[in-house]
Amino acid sequence: MIGISKLSLGRAEEDAALRVLRTGQLAMGPETQSVETEFSKRFGGADCIAVSNGTVAITLALAAMGVGPGDEVITTAFSFIGTIEPIIQLGAKPVFADVDLSTANIDVDNIEPLITDRTKAILPVHLYGRPVDLAAIRKISRDYRIPVLEDACQAIGSSDANTGEIGGSGTAVFSFYGSKNIACGEGGLVATDDSSIGERVRLLRSHGSIETYRHKIVGYNARMTDLQAAVLRVQLESLDTVTEGRQLNAAYYQESIVNDAILLPPVNNEKSTSCFHQYTIRLSSQAHRNDLQTWASQHEVETRAYYPYSLSGHPVVENLGIGSLCQNADDLSNVVLSIPVRETLTIEEKAKIVEVLSTWEPRD
Ligand SMILES: Cc1ncc(COP(=O)(O)O)c(C=O)c1O
Repeated sequence: MIGISKLSLGRAEEDAALRVLRTGQLAMGPETQSVETEFSKRFGGADCIAVSNGTVAITLALAAMGVGPGDEVITTAFSFIGTIEPIIQLGAKPVFADVDLSTANIDVDNIEPLITDRTKAILPVHLYGRPVDLAAIRKISRDYRIPVLEDACQAIGSSDANTGEIGGSGTAVFSFYGSKNIACGEGGLVATDDSSIGERVRLLRSHGSIETYRHKIVGYNARMTDLQAAVLRVQLESLDTVTEGRQLNAAYYQESIVNDAILLPPVNNEKSTSCFHQYTIRLSSQAHRNDLQTWASQHEVETRAYYPYSLSGHPVVENLGIGSLCQNADDLSNVVLSIPVRETLTIEEKAKIVEVLSTWEPRD
């Protein structure tokens, strides 16, 4: 089976992990400090705080922005559940904005009508790595004085012509879970150009501690270990190569997959550059999506529906009574299908994927 994700871990990662094991300092040591410095360098001096995973990075950043009980956070209707769990855990309510069908990202025009005096943050997601229209969202943020937290868990290496590399301005969070473009098993990062947010995130990350065994606020244990940090440092070195490889694969698919029954995703252009965490095609119906998935599987190509439900479609959201009808998100959940685009695909594997997709015929 040609898998959707396959980590590229080699000798350098092994050496890095061994180096840490031999020092005996497994958490919050020099490797964590170094990975923060290295991300900060990449992101033009942003304050970078390494944490244990992407979900907790969202929790800490929202908490640092002051989100708490009774507040509302406007977010996309179509993402992974980890985008909204932190909002709910902080006692606030996610308010769903429907998505733009062309990009699957939050439709900026749907944000303003949802703003109330309880809105404490706007949480857009760069889904599949495709950047949202940040300039437009930041204008709303300035007009209403509401902070923006970007869920960039899928968007390390993506950039936007107006605002630059995702993470280089504003406040964004990343995930380094095993399936991400660069990974260390579990891991996350908050990158912010707002030093007061950075300071609060740092405080929250380690039990609200201001000095050893002296605590200022109720915090979390959200620390990254040095083992994770050491592996991530190696992975970060290959980020540009990984991103370029994925972008080249996406460009190849764009030219080579020929099938009128398949809609290909938006291409990169001078305005916005996706890191292609996922290459997500669309079909014209759920039946066609399922049929193609079965066909691909029979031909040993793994595909996945990211995601088969909109956020409002989850039992947990329904049970909490916080869902809302977002038709585009629901429609997308029926027809999206991601195919392998990772940089580790061989020429033969890519050619096979193209052939499998181009020869599929929908059965009506
Ligand atoms: C869009 C999005 N948000 C949040 C998360 C949560 O990240 P993590 O799995 O590192 O907690 C993920 C990753 O899985 C994600 O893809």
